[in-house]
Amino acid sequence: MYNEEVIKEFQNLQNVGFLENNNAYSKIGNAACGDIMEMTMYINPETEIIEQVAFRTFGCAAAQATSSRATTLVKGKTAKEALELSNKAVVDSLGGLPAQKLHCSVLAEEAIKACIENYYERKNGTEKKEETKYV
Ligand code: FES
Repeated sequence: MYNEEVIKEFQNLQNVGFLENNNAYSKIGNAACGDIMEMTMYINPETEIIEQVAFRTFGCAAAQATSSRATTLVKGKTAKEALELSNKAVVDSLGGLPAQKLHCSVLAEEAIKACIENYYERKNGTEKKEETKYV
């Protein structure tokens, strides 16, 4: 079902965990299957570079592999650059996913966007109450 690159990423997940020193947080649910993903980042307030990023998920292999790859793609980028990362770019970098698993890759893209949104809200003092956003 999965290509070798996806299996390799799944067996060697990057940036799994939760950053206690985060200044960006998001929790995203997949409305199609109910799976959940949580992402934390530490974004340098001076440079806005994503210095640390971590995720943890109750999600399938595709969600985990795409989240892992997405975190490696945004680490070291600025918050604004990271907002441009699409789930398609993540899927392409893994050589594709089976059509029925494409929705799983949306978790990572949405978690990154929501995490950066949370960073700006916290910075501006406009943070909303923590809740799971379903996509
Ligand atoms: Fe739920 Fe893949 S089946 S994220």
